[in-house]
Amino acid sequence: METTKLTITAKKSIDCREDLLVFCFEQPEKGLPACDELLQPLIVKAIELGDFTGKMNDILLLYPYGGAGGVAFAAKRIMIVGMGKLAVDADSDSLREICRSVGGTIARQCEKLKAATVAVSLPVVGSLPPETVAECLTEGVLLGDYRFRKYKTEEKNEKPYLGLKKVVLLTQGAVAQVRRGSERGARAAKAANAARDMANRPGNDWTPTRFAEYACALAEEMAMKVTILEKADMERLGMGGILAVNRGSAEPPKMVILEYRPEKPAETVLLVGKGLTFDSGGVSLKPAAGMEDMKYDMCGGAAVLTAMRVIGQERPGVGVVAIVPATENMGGSAAVKPGDIIVHYSGITSEIVNTDAEGRMILADALAYGIEKYSPCCVIDLATLTGAVIVALGHHHTGILGNNDELVERLIDAGRMSGEPLWRLPLGPDYSKQIESEVADIKNTGGKSAGTITAAAYLQKFIKEIPWAHLDIAGTAWEFTEKSYIPKGPAGICTRTLVNLVRKWQKFPSDRN
Ligand code: BES
Ligand code: MN
Ligand code: ZN
Repeated sequence: METTKLTITAKKSIDCREDLLVFCFEQPEKGLPACDELLQPLIVKAIELGDFTGKMNDILLLYPYGGAGGVAFAAKRIMIVGMGKLAVDADSDSLREICRSVGGTIARQCEKLKAATVAVSLPVVGSLPPETVAECLTEGVLLGDYRFRKYKTEEKNEKPYLGLKKVVLLTQGAVAQVRRGSERGARAAKAANAARDMANRPGNDWTPTRFAEYACALAEEMAMKVTILEKADMERLGMGGILAVNRGSAEPPKMVILEYRPEKPAETVLLVGKGLTFDSGGVSLKPAAGMEDMKYDMCGGAAVLTAMRVIGQERPGVGVVAIVPATENMGGSAAVKPGDIIVHYSGITSEIVNTDAEGRMILADALAYGIEKYSPCCVIDLATLTGAVIVALGHHHTGILGNNDELVERLIDAGRMSGEPLWRLPLGPDYSKQIESEVADIKNTGGKSAGTITAAAYLQKFIKEIPWAHLDIAGTAWEFTEKSYIPKGPAGICTRTLVNLVRKWQKFPSDRN
């Protein structure tokens, strides 16, 4: 829950009074498990009976007994969570994922048991420093504890479980480092949860105006600069893409811009996120089945704005500007029509063959404007852009395309570190040919084949030669790979990838080039 209190302490596990006390358990290669001495006899028994194996996310619940021969744990319940076998050569990214996964399992069990307070004995996880274990475990617990309750009126006669009030991490070692790690994890998880909230709020609630309000509040809180371009500004600037998409909607469009500047002048990374608060397809109307999911078509915008929250808190040495073009795509009587030709901010003309290919139209203006105005060292855009990326990669990888190997690799690394894997698809002149138009510079669809690539090829026209990467999150923004720390619904995808990218940022391009 929003207000979960985190406590890091060197207290003994036996003295914890929480609703649930958790020990993590590494599956032994052979012989007896290495774990808390007091618990070992109980666990051995459960293993002998085959009730517990210690496999990843396997659980064993125990109820402390303080009488003769028992051990006087003060907690209400004890849970042992399996971490599986940790390979000696396991890389740190997979160890991080194990911690998040265990954290998610803990949160799920807490919900099942209606345990509002939990203490976790910080495990040793291969070669990971305790600080990192604490970071990823905290991340997993807070991400796994997320529920969207805004529109649930309380059920009568039943005491609803409202999530975790308190999470305690028990550590024998360096309390200060563990606390630092845990807080870092909490910032990332809370930001991703905020992105999930934005996505869960439906089209009649989370409108372009809400995006603008969120950015203004964040700017105030974090001392960042905010600019909201209104419809009249877009008209003055000639942003024909977002204006065309907005024509069929009663909700005013917003171009939301947040600027984080470090103390010492530095290069600027530009982030652009698609903020389509509802995509009906417009005149090229989508089928009714599943259309409600198009309230999630703003997840790219949610990722960049919530990443900015963490950037504002942590104040890294690199500048970051985030732009969210926000509008609905509706089929009102003034709506853009198939065959219409529009003029983008850059002056490039585009034939609108399908009004449902609207994401690239609003991103084109934002990219061209952002690059001209902020002279970034590189640009990253995120968008639920194409159904085709689901055909290509399913729900297990975000698609990434780009014109710069180093930038793409940095993002792939940050994604792997965050448990949000990316997979690269190609670009090239053969694909760009598919969006040539007979009557305008380009057209907004490239035919049946390679839909994710031709959508990216459209964006590429607005990039010029700047290092650029495009993340198509249509397959991962919701229905993302089932994980203990990803509840059903929007995943808050790529908020943490962006955060980790910026946390690790080094001068770009690096000197290797
Ligand atoms: N927002 C959709 C893409 C989408 C589809 C995201 C399914 C998540 C799940 C996008 O605006 C869209 O409609 N794209 C079209 C493009 C086509 C008309 C060229 C698509 O993918 O069908
Ligand atoms: Mn669409
Ligand atoms: Zn869309």
